[in-house]
Amino acid sequence: MSKLPLHHRFPKDFVWGVATSSFQIEGAAHADGKGESIWDRFCRQPGVIADASNGDVACDHYNRLEEDLDLIASLGVNAYRFSIAWPRAQPLGEGAWNPKGLAFYERLVDGLLLRGIRAYATLNHWDLPQALQDKGGWENRDTVHRFVDYARHVNAALGDRCAAITTHNEPWVVAVLGNEQGVFAPGIRNRKTMLQVSHHLLLSHGLAVQALRADGARSQLGIVLNLAPQMPATAMPADVKAAHQVDARNRRWYTDPLFKGLYPEEVLEEVGADAPKVEPGDMAVIQTPMDYLGINYYSRGVVSADGKDWDAKSRGLPVSEMGWEIYPEGLRDLLCLLHNDYPNLPPMHVTENGGAFPDAKWVDGRIEDLDRLDYLQTHITAVADAMDQGVKVVGYMVWSLMDNFEWSSGYLKRFGIVHIDYDTQKRTPKASAHWYRDFLAYWKR
Ligand code: FCB
Repeated sequence: MSKLPLHHRFPKDFVWGVATSSFQIEGAAHADGKGESIWDRFCRQPGVIADASNGDVACDHYNRLEEDLDLIASLGVNAYRFSIAWPRAQPLGEGAWNPKGLAFYERLVDGLLLRGIRAYATLNHWDLPQALQDKGGWENRDTVHRFVDYARHVNAALGDRCAAITTHNEPWVVAVLGNEQGVFAPGIRNRKTMLQVSHHLLLSHGLAVQALRADGARSQLGIVLNLAPQMPATAMPADVKAAHQVDARNRRWYTDPLFKGLYPEEVLEEVGADAPKVEPGDMAVIQTPMDYLGINYYSRGVVSADGKDWDAKSRGLPVSEMGWEIYPEGLRDLLCLLHNDYPNLPPMHVTENGGAFPDAKWVDGRIEDLDRLDYLQTHITAVADAMDQGVKVVGYMVWSLMDNFEWSSGYLKRFGIVHIDYDTQKRTPKASAHWYRDFLAYWKR
């Protein structure tokens, strides 16, 4: 256990940021020639979004860019992670580009640079053009090539000013929640589709990295995965085995191809004929070396052989408003696990970490979100603990800059360190934002 103050435990070149994504904050769903995304379409299905809301207005970030840039700068972060809405850049996902849509991201990136903040762009944070979904979406191998074209176009427009370009955010979510469980866009329920989607996401990542390198990319290139250590509910062999299998399915299905060039045997056995179609050469492409691995961490997994959900809350364990157990040590364990599993692992970035809390306590016009503040502090400590053990972590980003559209939870769950009043669009930094700003000010000294 280190006795140093937390801000002394990070090097001076550490990347500190806040993160958002296009669909969750931009709004302006039909402005300036933007095409329809699968999330625009999905939200219109009755019953899929908890508060029957959508992303039409969201945080109106598209129309409040300058104010939001100043807000980001006021926190003292040196990086901002955002995503580009593919249908804003290219309404149909192929063919014509939309100069007005791209101009928005140019203003965003230039505005960041002007304020001394590094731009971390993500190409796919789930809002695929609906026109491509109509042709099969990520299950269709042609979408892989459409994505590479899009990546090259964005790189040509913005790449000279972005510190990093991430291909995909959380392919597991797109594959499993979107295409197997159907609770996220595009709402498909099919295991075979899910597995093919996951393969095409990984393949398009590798091809895009190769294409951008060939184009002389100046940004760091990587991918972002949502990962959790999976722990057995008891020491019984059946639970241990079940935890191993969930880890293989959720984590190694993504990290083994990226860093070993193969899919885990135990998952291929389990899925049998549902296994994805893999063409010769695909695995070598997926394994293309990258500059960083982004990690989104929220909670650990606890697995028992009977398949029952581990209800942390009923066990009296601390949980966030999502019902996810608050378990900071899991972040340290996860970072160490990855470091030990893959000798060729690139430096890791924690690209998302944060908590949803009810934010009920206003004191003097400000939300006293001490639960969120504590969440951030303990998880940043966990990152420092992993670094003490020799794990190379180069950055940490809070999810999220501000409250926003939390997918199937609509606007009911708030992850922001800045509060949004959706009636007035007023932005109010919470106690956690003040804490983060003060922490970064100490770190800078
Ligand atoms: C992650 C997503 C992000 C946000 C957080 C809470 O899975 O990448 O958009 O919704 O969860």
